[in-house]
Amino acid sequence: MNDPNGMVFFEGEYHLFYQHYPDSNIWGPMHWGHAVSKDMVKWEHLPIALYPDSLGYIFSGSAVVDWNNTTGFGQNGKPPLVAMFTLHNMEREKAGRNDVETQGIAYSNDRGRTWTKYAGNPVISNPEKDRDFRDPKVVWDESSKQWIVVLAVGDHVEFWASPDLKNWTYLSDFGQNFGAHGGVWECPDLFPIQVDGSADKKWALIVNINPGHPNGGSGTQYFIGNFDGKTFTLDPSFAQLVPKGSGIWLDWGKDNYAGVTWSDVPKTDGRRLLIGWMSNWEYANKVPTQAWRNAATLPRELVLKNTSVGYRLFSLPVKEQESIRAKSFEIPAKTVSGILDLTSQLGFSPSLSEWVLEFETPEMGIVGLELSNTKGESYRLYYDAAQKQFVSDRMKSGDLSFSVQFASSLHVAPRFSGGKTLQLHLFFDVASMELFADQGATSMTELYFPSEVFSQAKLFAEGGEVKLVKGAVYQLQRIWN
Ligand code: FRU
Repeated sequence: MNDPNGMVFFEGEYHLFYQHYPDSNIWGPMHWGHAVSKDMVKWEHLPIALYPDSLGYIFSGSAVVDWNNTTGFGQNGKPPLVAMFTLHNMEREKAGRNDVETQGIAYSNDRGRTWTKYAGNPVISNPEKDRDFRDPKVVWDESSKQWIVVLAVGDHVEFWASPDLKNWTYLSDFGQNFGAHGGVWECPDLFPIQVDGSADKKWALIVNINPGHPNGGSGTQYFIGNFDGKTFTLDPSFAQLVPKGSGIWLDWGKDNYAGVTWSDVPKTDGRRLLIGWMSNWEYANKVPTQAWRNAATLPRELVLKNTSVGYRLFSLPVKEQESIRAKSFEIPAKTVSGILDLTSQLGFSPSLSEWVLEFETPEMGIVGLELSNTKGESYRLYYDAAQKQFVSDRMKSGDLSFSVQFASSLHVAPRFSGGKTLQLHLFFDVASMELFADQGATSMTELYFPSEVFSQAKLFAEGGEVKLVKGAVYQLQRIWN
């Protein structure tokens, strides 16, 4: 798989479609794979939802519930699900043409189980003949009472509007003069979001970019501003943070890309929920797995906070994730100096585990967690007090041979929240680590491929002692039966 697509909540189910090539574990003619979940934790695989057709491969896109049946696709008074996606035409690509990508729609009247492509596709034909013109993310704009789609177009995004998801009018574009531009812009998202603890509402614009992430390769940047039904304008304070060439990043690890959010999460729930693709185009086709290749990140709740350094999207693991906690172990408060080996005390393997650690923020040295195996391979995640940054070290984590970019350096994330307490919330899943530090202020997602599972766990503090205030470790259950 690559990008998550078409995430929509409908009749008690979270739908997750994804870029998928069923005949190989190397990227190829793209389909939309499909899975559903009642809680975003346990998933049921469903048959492929969308197949390539004469207009092209089915690239990334989104899905919405058409509550008012603006499309006329609904049946028996029930709203249809409508998906919008990029059609990537290989004949045109081979002929060296630029108008390779157009946008199409499809609908479902059976809770997403089967899909019919609209006979009038493409609904947006690529008028400017842009080589990169893709990944439509649709949102209903309550104030202008119309559908808005945001498209990634090379070095900017474009906004288009429609009354019925079929007829589209170009509105405006954004981005040529702001943000990171180390690579092509892809998979955008646009949504309103309340500022935490206030009545203020802002609009967030997510823009994935490949390459251009500070730790190399694919990454997710975002912008905070306002959308008035026509134009996206940066919040003046945020504009200063993102002059052309500088991005604000949703995740500082190398393995969270193409993340976008769920549509139609009920207002009574109110959360803005995102899922990303846990890989990086630098090595996505080469990671050393066989029956499967690549996966989605944990679903995350996004919270917009007005911090001392400006607006920031915090990422938190969804609370539903707690439902797969199995055995637990409490680490008593203590001063850590050197190595604190927890392996024998845990009573379960840390290979699939969740950690909630709270330290007094150290002034010097490093403090963190190491997982390792009997072959001497290890993965380390720590906080470096002098540099005020989180560090992911997979340089000895096992197989590194498949790509020079995978572990040629430490991967770092600046800590901006600066609190007296340092909180590390970590999830390990055999070949991945997801960090949510300081209540979600900083997140990092990183893969690793040990030749034997990590069975040992150690806390460590080097260059000074560090007070552990609280620590809980949970064994996690498998989500597959
Ligand atoms: C991002 C991306 C999208 C495109 C899809 C193709 O990872 O390149 O821009 O739609 O993957 O699989």
